[in-house]
Amino acid sequence: MKKKILSAILATAMMATIITGCGGSNEQPAAAPVAQEPAAEAEAPAAEEPAAEAPAAEASGSLADKKVGVCIYQFSDNFMTLFRTELENYLIAQGFSKENINIVDGANDQATQSGQIDNFIAEGVDVLIINPVNSSSAETITDKVVGAGIPLVYINREPVADEEQRWADNNWDVTYVGCDARQSGTFQGEMIVDLGLDKVDMNGNGKVDYIMVEGDPENVDAQYRTEFSVKALTDAGWEVECLSDQVGNWQQDQAQAIVANALAQYGNDVEVVFCNNDAMALGALQAIQAADRKVGEDIYLVGVDALSEALENVLAGTMTGTVFNDHFSQSHSAADAAINYLTGKGNEHYIGCDYVKVTQDKAQEVLDMVK
Ligand code: BGC
Repeated sequence: MKKKILSAILATAMMATIITGCGGSNEQPAAAPVAQEPAAEAEAPAAEEPAAEAPAAEASGSLADKKVGVCIYQFSDNFMTLFRTELENYLIAQGFSKENINIVDGANDQATQSGQIDNFIAEGVDVLIINPVNSSSAETITDKVVGAGIPLVYINREPVADEEQRWADNNWDVTYVGCDARQSGTFQGEMIVDLGLDKVDMNGNGKVDYIMVEGDPENVDAQYRTEFSVKALTDAGWEVECLSDQVGNWQQDQAQAIVANALAQYGNDVEVVFCNNDAMALGALQAIQAADRKVGEDIYLVGVDALSEALENVLAGTMTGTVFNDHFSQSHSAADAAINYLTGKGNEHYIGCDYVKVTQDKAQEVLDMVK
């Protein structure tokens, strides 16, 4: 019941943002650096052993003794699993010792995570990297960590603008590393626009009838992807009809149930399924296949992240496309930011990265990179 009310509120909020969004900004996302950056990074995979000879260690001479605390909002999240694995490997490759890197699971509970942060402070870690459970708790977290004199790198769940402004105003050693989710939403919408209206408007009502499956609203990525995917369609002059918009919390099973219900209710009128991430797109695909629908023939499906399984589906044509959420670049930037604080170089208070659009022609290249 609660979920329904939340969905209704979100749906209303979404309509409101779409209306303002449509008349508003014309921001063009920067062109995606396709193979360039991530490929270069993928070619230089993080070393397994603590690399005493790693360049950063040489430069600072002391990273091996530094203690890093890493808080992840939830270990069971597929994307954050890729992120934290790469983060640990890269930290080790930069000269940190494996035993000095402590990565903990917040189990999607802010109270649990706050306790973990207290423990890290009590232990005297040298730097903290935090993926907050509730981004709205950032102010409290920042105060605690800054109060203890520990530099702080937020990842993946961006605190609100006022909070980031505080870091700048006070010249605190606090930064956020992440990609601008508006770009990923735009890319999702563009992949649909590139198919052409004739192909997408299969029921011929002159509109694109879609289902939206949203991630957990604690991550602004959910709101932006929802808004900007649809905005790309309306920006192309297309009319849209939202048949269903519900929160699937980034979870495959929840998305499967949502899409199964929506397909039962709206049947062949469903032309596009937008999912805020790939885990949910994989759930949507299960529902689509169970309903005997065929992606690319009588329905289109897009996600975000470029999980291997999703890329394999894009290659096979069972997903229309995905957007690479570059966990290499984000984890490396987060580690580099931590090193910059430890070595006294400091950082900007926002460190961004680019998404990459992945349709069938690009899927193998990205799969080779992420596998
Ligand atoms: C990813 C999702 C993930 C979420 C966690 C997003 O950027 O696209 O897959 O569940 O972050 O906060």
